[in-house]
Amino acid sequence: MRFSTTASQVLAFCSALSQFTEAISTRARGVPRGAARTDVVKPKVFIISMFEPEGDVWYGIPEFNLLAKNITVPGFSTLYPDAHCTATGEICQLVTGEAEINAAATITSLIQSNCFDLTSTYFLIAGIAGVNPEVATLSSVTFARYAVQVALEYQFDAREIPSNWSTGYLGQGAYAPGQYPTFIYGTEVLEVNAALRSLAAGFAKTALLNDTSDAAAYRALYTSPAYTAGSSPPSVVECDVATSDVYFSGALLGEAFGNFTKLMTNGSGVYCTTGQEDNATLEALLRGAVSGLVDFSRIIVMRTASDFDRPYPGSSPQYNLFYAADYGYEPALQNVYLAGVKVVEGIINGWERTFKKGVNATNYIGDIFGTLGGTPDFGQGALLSEQEALDKRNLEKKKHMGRMRRIGRRLLPASLSR
Ligand SMILES: *[C@@H]1O[C@H](CO)[C@@H](O)[C@H](O)[C@H]1NC(C)=O
Ligand SMILES: *[C@@H]1O[C@H](CO)[C@@H](O)[C@H](O)[C@H]1NC(C)=O
Ligand SMILES: *[C@@H]1O[C@H](CO)[C@@H](O)[C@H](O)[C@H]1NC(C)=O
Ligand SMILES: *[C@@H]1O[C@H](CO)[C@@H](O)[C@H](O)[C@H]1NC(C)=O
Ligand SMILES: *[C@@H]1O[C@H](CO)[C@@H](O)[C@H](O)[C@H]1NC(C)=O
Ligand SMILES: *[C@@H]1O[C@H](CO)[C@@H](O)[C@H](O)[C@H]1NC(C)=O
Ligand SMILES: *[C@@H]1O[C@H](CO)[C@@H](O)[C@H](O)[C@H]1NC(C)=O
Repeated sequence: MRFSTTASQVLAFCSALSQFTEAISTRARGVPRGAARTDVVKPKVFIISMFEPEGDVWYGIPEFNLLAKNITVPGFSTLYPDAHCTATGEICQLVTGEAEINAAATITSLIQSNCFDLTSTYFLIAGIAGVNPEVATLSSVTFARYAVQVALEYQFDAREIPSNWSTGYLGQGAYAPGQYPTFIYGTEVLEVNAALRSLAAGFAKTALLNDTSDAAAYRALYTSPAYTAGSSPPSVVECDVATSDVYFSGALLGEAFGNFTKLMTNGSGVYCTTGQEDNATLEALLRGAVSGLVDFSRIIVMRTASDFDRPYPGSSPQYNLFYAADYGYEPALQNVYLAGVKVVEGIINGWERTFKKGVNATNYIGDIFGTLGGTPDFGQGALLSEQEALDKRNLEKKKHMGRMRRIGRRLLPASLSR
């Protein structure tokens, strides 16, 4: 931002610049320098939506008015420039924009903005998602413990994979599917507070979930015994979310990413939903926690199921993606609100008794490196610090490149190989 903006424009933004401006004006009024800003919003709950329809379900509801206070935050998506809050600032909401990059950029901007004190805030990620019919069904409401970045992998096109491979996806640094990756970036797995998740699921279970006859008729087509959950009525389920920018459809990719989730979580993760943001949101929150700006034990990942990740028996992955996606969409959106509002109210009503002091996590929380302390209860990443992973990766990459070059020398004319 440049300094040639007018004072009113500057104050329209809650930015470092406006704090600077205010610091000067409060000093002029005789307020001691460094005194706490009184207009900092300190939400008890912050709802994170990913796109407009998920945001819209929260406006015009009887429980609270999120449009009472709009706060423009520098760094938010130009499509969704404002955080929306109740008049007291007790409950706020934002829209990140879709997929991993938007989610990471918006949440980082929120954390770095000085408009908010987020140190005691509960974050409710509340979006729709694709669903694995082995675990849940259309209109279901799910709460995750793990978010796994399933597309952070090597990939070969299906037509070019070795005949004995089950998938074209494999961990980075691995040589075949099913091997634990050796190039760890740190965002592969994020684990949130399981005790808080159970409380949130308990609140959600008091909601009367929405469903439609279209959704009911469509889920009834999932007749295979493996899809008993997929053909049963919607419910609240505790199971894990996969994050991938690539929007995939088909049993084989669903299965491959379910396998990767298991691999990355030491067999404890249950892949049930697929979204395009959660790991990015969680990584930004993790960095905020490292700076002491947010409490990583106060995060809830709720995803409602809008479409299946794979077709019903006898149908095709293309039909599933192109034509079937609509059946669960409306009830899933409704359930973001119907279940989500119970979680918000549960936290607000239980604030003094339970939530103000926090819900202690009894499981490990954080990333694969143990960045927030403690030892991850999943994966071999537990054995590595971030620096060790980096050193190992550099070493592996060097070996890898060396091998590539040797192969290159054999295959290329001498003049082309370096
Ligand atoms: C906040 O923004 C919404 C539109 O996003 C608008 O409808 C509402 O009136 C605004 N609230 C205030 C207090 O200006
Ligand atoms: C596939 O076959 C290759 C070559 O025979 C073998 O080296 C490899 O271990 C096999 N991979 C799997 C996943 O079975
Ligand atoms: C993504 O989120 C999952 C579950 O919340 C977590 O297990 C995984 O580590 C996260 N990955 C990254 C890259 O943040
Ligand atoms: C679900 O929501 C739709 C749209 O608002 C409504 O017509 C329908 O009656 C609701 N169904 C249930 C079971 O709540
Ligand atoms: C998933 O893992 C199972 C068990 O190892 C294996 O049989 C299956 O082929 C894998 N599926 C895919 C698509 O990789
Ligand atoms: C949470 O853990 C802290 C530190 O171990 C402890 O002091 C506190 O009493 C615990 N709170 C609850 C509600 O169990
Ligand atoms: C992984 O799972 C095994 C078997 O359940 C268990 O013995 C081991 O302690 C787990 N590893 C970690 C890091 O928790």
